Amino acid sequence: MRILVVGGAGTIGRRLVPELRSRGHDVIMAGRTSGQLRVDLAEPETIAAMYREAGAVDAVVSVAAHGALDEFAKLTSAQLHENMRAKFYGQVELVLQGQHYAADGASFTLTSGIFADEAWPHVTGGGVISGALHSFVLSAAIELPRRMRVNVVSPTLVGDSEAEFGDHFPGMRPVPMDELVQQYLNCVESDITGTVVRAYA
Ligand SMILES: NC(=O)c1ccc[n+]([C@@H]2O[C@H](COP(=O)([O-])OP(=O)(O)OC[C@H]3O[C@@H](n4cnc5c(N)ncnc54)[C@H](OP(=O)(O)O)[C@@H]3O)[C@@H](O)[C@H]2O)c1
Repeated sequence: MRILVVGGAGTIGRRLVPELRSRGHDVIMAGRTSGQLRVDLAEPETIAAMYREAGAVDAVVSVAAHGALDEFAKLTSAQLHENMRAKFYGQVELVLQGQHYAADGASFTLTSGIFADEAWPHVTGGGVISGALHSFVLSAAIELPRRMRVNVVSPTLVGDSEAEFGDHFPGMRPVPMDELVQQYLNCVESDITGTVVRAYA
């Protein structure tokens, strides 16, 4: 398959991309500053340009753009909206625009996160983004044309990120990267659609 991986140079992407390649897939990586193609998920016109440059792809995987931490007492709806630009609206754009560019039967695999399902301090924005992504995937899956599929992987803290983020979420058990990578592979290579894949340890 020809697979476009947005965020392929990131923590999850750099483990997923070699695995996809080892299974014979042709992988094109995209990011704001990394990969073969330039895209900023916060800027919808760059998504259109990326798809035009990529040509028809059989799968799109998004492992890019975090929700920012926030302080509830000071949070504004404007901040929430800004927080949603790349990770929520950007991934939604990947599907809304991608349905017109991708090959028949293509799959979209998005990334959300555990805060859709678990309350932790300072992640109101992250929770809202991930919950909204889960709802988006349910609806999109039944309306996508040409046998296209869409799923979302919802990781908890990833093993490889424990040193970076572990202090913010004391006691959160990380999911091993190998297990998480298998979930992305399954979304790409199986025929599932409309699924929220909860990769919680
Ligand atoms: N790591 C974890 O523990 C964890 C846990 C739960 C959920 N997640 C979610 O999993 C996804 C990937 O996480 P990660 O830890 O692998 O991220 P990461 O290490 O920060 O890597 C993100 C990748 O995405 C690209 N990127 C960032 N912002 C972008 C944007 N606006 N447009 C296009 N590309 C962008 C970056 O490259 P450029 O800088 O070149 O753009 C980079 O390659 C995120 O949605 C994150 O919230 C991660």
